[in-house]
Amino acid sequence: MSWWPEGELQKMRSASPTSGQPSGDTTMSANATNEHPVYNYAVVRQFTIMTVVWGIVGMLVGVLIAAQLAFPQLNFSIGDLHLHFGRLRPLHTNAVIFAFGGCALFACSLYVVQRTCQARLISDALASFVFWGWQLVILLAAVTLPMGYTSGKEYAELEWPIDILIAVVWVAYAVLFFGTIMKRRTSHIYVANWFFGAFIITVAVLHIVNSLAVPVSLTKSYSIYAGAIDAMVQWWYGHNAVGFFLTAGFLGIMYYFVPKQAERPVYSYRLSIVHFWALIAVYMWAGPHHLHYSALPDWAQSLGMVMSLVLLAPSWGGMINGIMTLSGAWHKLRSDPTLRFLVVSLSFYGMSTFEGPMMSIKTVNALSHNTDWTIGHVHSGALGWVAMVSIGAMYHLIPVLWNRRQMFSVPAINLHFWLSTIGTVLYIASMWVNGIMQGLMWRAYNNDGTLTYTFVESVQASYPGYIVRLLGGAMFFSGMLVMAWNTWKTVSPGVAPERALQTQPA
Ligand code: HEM
Ligand code: HEM
Repeated sequence: MSWWPEGELQKMRSASPTSGQPSGDTTMSANATNEHPVYNYAVVRQFTIMTVVWGIVGMLVGVLIAAQLAFPQLNFSIGDLHLHFGRLRPLHTNAVIFAFGGCALFACSLYVVQRTCQARLISDALASFVFWGWQLVILLAAVTLPMGYTSGKEYAELEWPIDILIAVVWVAYAVLFFGTIMKRRTSHIYVANWFFGAFIITVAVLHIVNSLAVPVSLTKSYSIYAGAIDAMVQWWYGHNAVGFFLTAGFLGIMYYFVPKQAERPVYSYRLSIVHFWALIAVYMWAGPHHLHYSALPDWAQSLGMVMSLVLLAPSWGGMINGIMTLSGAWHKLRSDPTLRFLVVSLSFYGMSTFEGPMMSIKTVNALSHNTDWTIGHVHSGALGWVAMVSIGAMYHLIPVLWNRRQMFSVPAINLHFWLSTIGTVLYIASMWVNGIMQGLMWRAYNNDGTLTYTFVESVQASYPGYIVRLLGGAMFFSGMLVMAWNTWKTVSPGVAPERALQTQPA
């Protein structure tokens, strides 16, 4: 379904992922090294492998901190290295968001921009710099965070020298991406690239503005902002990190890989454009919902709440556009577990973007804030949406990049799908139960005005939920191990001839 004039549609189709072969490269034969004759697939392959590697590392730390919350004895030190929850939690968030999620975004955006613009990346050297620069950022984070070097800003914990490195790598990435768009051979810029473009520009602005600080030593700096302004800037950053890093970028992935895997054009191209502008326009204003009942002016809190409620519309527009792309192809879900990953991720996206606006209503937030409900919301977005859409995209990409007919084992993808889905459901359901129970226990009063429950009683009551979350997290993590095995078997050099493609996919 579409409402565009036919002429415009022709242009869009020529750039869409289901449009067929880019001219020029179909006649060329593959060479033995898997090097694509036209596109730079080397950097995409590097980021793809590191997505799997950092996914395993980040989620392993997630399982460990989940275990630490259930069994406090697991908080321990090795000499001066304190491997406690407080040190490992930022390691987990940085590893899953920036290392796992980041590598998936780099891999997919650099692949999609080449395919849909029918142009090679403008510079192989710059692509290599972006890859190695980002891996260096991740390694520096993995070393400094457990040692306790932190700016104390959530999702922006890294100290100033690493922040500068991030800014340099990010600008290089922007030059690489937009430079490739500029030398495109298609007249139209496919919608996935709009989402990637917005994600790249916004993350640069957010990172630079929020990280402005006065250094006092190589490992310590102080934010240039203070008090309520600092909180406001931090959550303008924090919320838009969710909106642009964890949402816009992954919507770019969705707009390419869902149509491609379903072999159907996007349900409504017009809706995708409306979705894009509405999302970009509204996300920026919603940050104050993280600061309800704080020192932030009341009008700013209410503005954040209203904008969050409005955000439901573009979010669901995008979700519906993605899911309806399967119109006429629903039967494929029976036999294609990769497509199942992609579609179920959209369902979780719909769920978390319904829950988020509800939690931003001040009276609801009075119950949910600081409880495990927030953690459940985070992981319905993080595991259900971000991780599952990335995993689906990787299962599509890996055979293409290594010139194979398909992944080594399709039943293993299916097993991974069920481990991820059941794991996510166990995680978020246990956190909902814990969160609502905690919120209700904390606000229960006796007739004489004293609290009915001590805080410790609410922690004790949360214990079963922590065990179920640990189980769910361990299941999700074990799915990643299955993926690593399947990836290894698919890409390892000694592949049987019947599994290899004779020509490079265009
Ligand atoms: C095996 C999978 C995972 C497990 C077991 C896990 C576990 C945890 C735990 C125990 C926490 C701390 C909760 C608390 O402070 O009470 C946490 C926080 C967090 N995790 Fe995960 N996690 C997993 C995967 C992911 C993924 C894939 C992402 C993102 C793509 C993610 C993003 C986050 C974020 C953003 C927070 C901080 C939430 C907040 O401050 O409200 N996690 N995770
Ligand atoms: C319409 C979309 C969304 C809205 C309006 C929204 C709203 C909210 C609200 C009200 C909170 C609780 C703030 C608090 O009480 O401290 C929250 C927390 C959070 N949300 Fe969402 N959410 C949305 C979508 C998402 C998605 C899709 C993801 C992940 C992919 C996500 C990730 C997070 C994270 C990481 C936090 C925890 C932040 C922190 O305190 O560390 N949100 N969100």
